[in-house]
Amino acid sequence: MRLLFIGDIVGPAAGEWLIERLPELRSTYRPDLIVANAENIAFGTARTNGPGLFGMTIALIEPLLDAGVDVITSGNHAWDTDEADTLAVHAHPRVLRPVNMPDDVPGKGWVTIEVLGERVSVVNLATPDAVATARPPRDVWTTLELPGTVIVDLHAESVIQKHIVANGLDGEVAAVLGTHTHEASLFTPILQRGTAFVPEVGMTGHSGGAQGMPGDVFRALWNGDGWGGLTTLAPGPLVLGAVVLDIEDGRTTAIERIH
Ligand SMILES: [Fe+2]
Ligand SMILES: [Fe+2]
Repeated sequence: MRLLFIGDIVGPAAGEWLIERLPELRSTYRPDLIVANAENIAFGTARTNGPGLFGMTIALIEPLLDAGVDVITSGNHAWDTDEADTLAVHAHPRVLRPVNMPDDVPGKGWVTIEVLGERVSVVNLATPDAVATARPPRDVWTTLELPGTVIVDLHAESVIQKHIVANGLDGEVAAVLGTHTHEASLFTPILQRGTAFVPEVGMTGHSGGAQGMPGDVFRALWNGDGWGGLTTLAPGPLVLGAVVLDIEDGRTTAIERIH
């Protein structure tokens, strides 16, 4: 089974660009399953008001699903849009938010689907350095009963935390694929018990800045001015952050970074 996993989609233009590229990616890599993290897709005029600047709207995620994305994952921005959109997005059976959230948080953290006649469970997991209100991931992980091949979107900020989770789950899951920090990692090993580990898949968004945003936004943070200056995304061309994995009997046999 071949998995195409796409890292954080930043902004609506990146979502449209990905949809345009999907036929080409499908014919080149022939994935059986496509998972994309879309926590940052809603930015600017494409969204309504809400507590954050990114998040997801039904209007932006449905075209992705229609274009062939099987499961959408997210992270700390999962609840950024206004209440109606947030509830609508998380009511969708193929949209996930981190599984280790308190029970009263909208959404669900994993889904099992059938791929080539086999069960595949996609689970979204977070560490508290990326999602402040997340519960300790191991506390929740050990309560889960995930059928079939398991693929983890690990939304975490620290590479050390990502190593802890990936090595902790080595041999138990097919892949631990890092999201959230947006800058793609070169290190993409298959660990000794057969679990693929990508510390950061990388964003699908605008280059020429930082994390898909203008570098001046981070310069403002350096100057103590907070995030308030984020009014546009980075000025450079769109780039793809993605990996392709070959998975057999619940373990990864090959991994390739694609652009
Ligand atoms: Fe993100
Ligand atoms: Fe994030």
